[in-house]
Amino acid sequence: MARCIMSPLDITVEELESLMDTAMDIMGNPDKYAHACEGKILATLFYEPSTRTRLSFEAAMLKLGGKTLGFHSADSSSATKGETVADTIRVMSQFADICAMRHPKEGAALVAAEKSGIPVINAGDGGHQHPTQTLTDLMTIKALKGNFENLTVGMCGDLKFGRTVHSLIKALVRYANVKFIFISPKELMIPSYIRDDLLIQNNIAFREVTKLEDVLPSLDILYMTRVQRERFFNEEDYVRLKDFYILDKKKMDLASQHMLVLHPLPRVNEISSEIDGDPRAVYFEQVRYGMYIRMALILKLLNVNV
Ligand code: NCD
Repeated sequence: MARCIMSPLDITVEELESLMDTAMDIMGNPDKYAHACEGKILATLFYEPSTRTRLSFEAAMLKLGGKTLGFHSADSSSATKGETVADTIRVMSQFADICAMRHPKEGAALVAAEKSGIPVINAGDGGHQHPTQTLTDLMTIKALKGNFENLTVGMCGDLKFGRTVHSLIKALVRYANVKFIFISPKELMIPSYIRDDLLIQNNIAFREVTKLEDVLPSLDILYMTRVQRERFFNEEDYVRLKDFYILDKKKMDLASQHMLVLHPLPRVNEISSEIDGDPRAVYFEQVRYGMYIRMALILKLLNVNV
């Protein structure tokens, strides 16, 4: 079976270091990598909407000299005719060398990986995992903070359905003395498979609070997330919760001068655009790091040495 990336834990701490080094090298010497994937094809199989992740994968492959093909909604694929993910991936394995897949159902990428002849990267499966967003987040933290140890990381918003949060927690618990503060309304707290099975089991320090203002001064990283409308069972609950947190200038005044604000994007209302110019607001820089770390991952999974 080709090597597939389903969760951030599929990449070891050592491999992550090496991916981040490669990504940094690509940023500094793009010409060196411009033909590295010539003749190779990346397929993007997106059954769920995406702007950043899909285009970031495509830009990454194009900048490596490769080509891309794929679909960007379930409606434009044979899923509408009833084709299974397992069959689609068998077909795509004939066309492409590597694939990134996003699907609304948890575990869909794993089903694909089991049947695939090419490396499959999970680009988001329902509310479950999103490992390359985590690579993006880690790369941003590493580039701007230098390391992961001893950080106090606040995660705010929809911690129940937000797959980027679940993946980032899984990756960060591997570093010494990382503390978490989870900031969410009661209804959107982290799922028990993260709280009980991962954090409590491994004695990781964490707190769960509802008020952002109270904890802001103690944070090194604030990871903001949008309320995941598409995963709610009813619109009423979404409307009640969607504006629970809005990070604005007044709140940023409570935070340390060294705190970084990350967001996987898209942002809805949870970060006011008035803080976009604040040097601590790094969510657009984060997008740039995302493309470079995906380039490094593609090279690794295709066993291309530059
Ligand atoms: C995230 C996702 O799809 O989970 N977006 C992304 O990949 N950058 C976050 C989100 O949609 O809220």
